[in-house]
Amino acid sequence: MIRGRRPLLPGNPVFRFKAPPPLSLYIHFPWCARKCPYCDFNSHVVKGELPEDQYIDALLMDLEQELPAAWGRTVQTIFMGGGTPSLFSPQAIEKLLSGIRARLPLHPDLEITLEANPGTVEQEKFYGYREAGINRLSIGLQSLNDVHLRELGRIHSSKEALRAVHCARQAGFDNFNLDLMFGLPKQTVEQAVADLHAVIDLQPTHLSWYQLTLEPNTLFYVHPPTLPDDDDKWEMQHRGHSLLAEQGYTQYEVSAFATVGYRCRHNLNYWRFGDYLGIGAGAHGKITDGGHGVIRRTWKKRNPKDYLASAGTAACIDGQRELSEVDTAFEFALNALRLKEGFNLSDFESACGLQREWLLPVLQQASKDGLLSLDGDTVKHTEQG
Ligand SMILES: C[S@@+](CC[C@H](N)C(=O)[O-])C[C@H]1O[C@@H](n2cnc3c(N)ncnc32)[C@H](O)[C@@H]1O
Ligand code: SF4
Repeated sequence: MIRGRRPLLPGNPVFRFKAPPPLSLYIHFPWCARKCPYCDFNSHVVKGELPEDQYIDALLMDLEQELPAAWGRTVQTIFMGGGTPSLFSPQAIEKLLSGIRARLPLHPDLEITLEANPGTVEQEKFYGYREAGINRLSIGLQSLNDVHLRELGRIHSSKEALRAVHCARQAGFDNFNLDLMFGLPKQTVEQAVADLHAVIDLQPTHLSWYQLTLEPNTLFYVHPPTLPDDDDKWEMQHRGHSLLAEQGYTQYEVSAFATVGYRCRHNLNYWRFGDYLGIGAGAHGKITDGGHGVIRRTWKKRNPKDYLASAGTAACIDGQRELSEVDTAFEFALNALRLKEGFNLSDFESACGLQREWLLPVLQQASKDGLLSLDGDTVKHTEQG
């Protein structure tokens, strides 16, 4: 597809933005009770007491430093991800949200998601999160089979997972996502389908259904467990997709399924190449600076200790990169083509500040290769793509 930093078209195109894309805020919480053997996220086992107050203060200082990049813009969604944000108390989350409200204009219909691990849940905590302003939960179930939960090194049983969902409902969360994985060690097709049935019975508004992947820098990568073969994984996926569709869950991205009106607006903004501020250890941000005609990616120090020591200063920024035209077109396509709905060429123009002529030759080639469909202005991936 698009390679290198060479322009696709002769000449030296410049970015021209009519208006910046929608803005989100991502907040990373880098601690977990235990490290799962398959996980390559920036998560560290909490040793001793969680430095709650110190971390919330650091996040707000970090945000303070980001404010010029968001000047005059309204935040549409907030996502608290991890790690395990639910290790934090409702009081800490309340303090964080009040601090954000005091610093940034927020959309009246703001989506605020918090990721929760069932092993860290108490009923009171969920009531507290709700009162603090969280209006969407994402609960990491992974499986409802105790043998598989043990294999995955999870800190909770299936009973605790069910209890977490019950607590969420009791606390008034009618909008929640459940994370589930398939292709688990020694999992049969029947077990994967049974897992999905059990999770659908819990009637989440949204389901993230991931195939387990062996990521470098994880224990599973070094000592790979026995995974189902490709035919079985294909069959799991095929039967799973049919079941989800029958039960009213529309697939709108590779791993994301939602009931009507409950697509995750935060993730949609990533996939549509929207802007986001990223605060917290290792958090990434992407901001369109229309005035200077650039799109800038920024990432923060990954190690929680280094982050805490530097938050709010220039030293906290681990790296920054301005996207070239080629990077921009490539990253836009990489994200937008994850979506079933694909994208319009006018979306490309407004999100990237580039003209459609820039992308068309590559799209036409991919369409000839059967990887994409090009229908008027609309571009979508094909089954083969
Ligand atoms: C950042 S994790 C946070 C969720 C929370 N910490 C938990 O585990 O309960 C988000 C989700 O990514 C998925 N995930 C993590 N590692 C994965 C892997 N190697 N393969 C597939 N999915 C993975 C899991 O379903 C997980 O719930
Ligand atoms: S609890 Fe979630 S973030 Fe933490 S190690 Fe396990 S999968 Fe990764």
